[in-house]
Amino acid sequence: MSSNNTIPRQDFINRRNRFMKKIGDGNIAILVSGEEIIRNGDVYYPFRQNSSFHYLTGFPEPSSVAVFVPGSSKPYTLFVRKHDPVMETWVGPRIGLRKAISRYDANQTFDIDELSSELPKLIKKSDSVWYSIGTNSTIDQLVTNQIAERRDGRQRGGSPLNAVRDPQEIIDSLRVIKSNNEVNALQEAINITAAGLANIEQLDKPGRTEYEVQAILESEYRRLGSVRDGFPSIVAAGNNSCTLHYTANRARIKNGDLLLLDTGAEWDLYSADVSRTYPANGKFTSAQKDVYEVVLSAQQTAIESVRPGTTFYEPHHAAVRVLIDGLKDLKVLKGTNKSIEKSFLYRPFYMHGTSHWLGLDVHDAGNYSDPNQTPVTLKAGMVLTIEPGLYFPKNIEGVPKELKGIGIRIEDDVLVTKTSRRNLSAAIPSNIDEISD
Ligand code: GLY
Ligand code: MN
Ligand code: MN
Repeated sequence: MSSNNTIPRQDFINRRNRFMKKIGDGNIAILVSGEEIIRNGDVYYPFRQNSSFHYLTGFPEPSSVAVFVPGSSKPYTLFVRKHDPVMETWVGPRIGLRKAISRYDANQTFDIDELSSELPKLIKKSDSVWYSIGTNSTIDQLVTNQIAERRDGRQRGGSPLNAVRDPQEIIDSLRVIKSNNEVNALQEAINITAAGLANIEQLDKPGRTEYEVQAILESEYRRLGSVRDGFPSIVAAGNNSCTLHYTANRARIKNGDLLLLDTGAEWDLYSADVSRTYPANGKFTSAQKDVYEVVLSAQQTAIESVRPGTTFYEPHHAAVRVLIDGLKDLKVLKGTNKSIEKSFLYRPFYMHGTSHWLGLDVHDAGNYSDPNQTPVTLKAGMVLTIEPGLYFPKNIEGVPKELKGIGIRIEDDVLVTKTSRRNLSAAIPSNIDEISD
């Protein structure tokens, strides 16, 4: 199916069946693949399949559309690119219409160029359409035309197209609970990430550029079979570690710097997401060590708070409480913990959340709270990151000067189990004695 084959074909069939049950007989769902995006001339950005499209189809090509008509004789249709000898000479083989049936289990296939003539026929008998309006202008128009036609046809005994509903909520609710095979894919991505980080931990870092370290890290991912990173690696030395999503990776690492790496190999389209912060020369300064100990303690406390039945935000609250104690010890904040927490006085030093879902996307599908702001309850099979940090950029006012230029984040990937949790990245060292000389 896909590059690393951790998810068997039957799992895709099961996912489609669960999805179609939620769509309901008499309705239709339309899902669009990722698109190739041009960079310049004949050059495209590297293509990666849209994660929700992949989740339900496993079909890896752009310019594809999946249509689901539950309860019909052909519930699963794929529109795909037909074979084209000239294009295939230039850019490589296509799967084609026949193999989209034999290998990807579609009940029928059409050439994507026939979408405008064939899709309306599939929509015609449906009560409602599940489609994310705004994802594809051709399909937006075809659906709009159907609504208008059906409205006008009512006098002649037709029925109106009752509703256009967004299927993303349904797909997200499926994606947020991981199967054992998905956890295995994540674990493989994390194991590869562990190997890459082990190389960097041991590397003599001062004097090298951040992008050289990035290349060494990612070459280990490639060597171990990860074809792509889950997201652009953050390799941030010194003050750059205070920029949360720093990806320029252009600076030279100095003796005495911290080096923050936030990275994840991809395996079978599932992404790891791990952060570690190393002393570049192997030795923490005493200020770096003090901050590191606070962040590590916050992270360990937050991980231990993960269990089924608690809320998505509980690890965040647990981490913040430890960080506030630490910020007081570091002489950054004064006052009662309660007033500091209530007035968000820690925010200049800890300005991001502690967790997000992890899966096919690094910030994976799924809500954190419902429309009434009630936080989601953690359930077995959910995977979330635990990633507290503290950041004291050089230009920040009112903090002891030895803290300036220190940015530390420690991030692990945690599976909610039936009774508690499993830290999938626990084997990646984070204790001070393990990561320093
Ligand atoms: N790697 C991005 C994040 O940790 O959210
Ligand atoms: Mn990360
Ligand atoms: Mn993360």
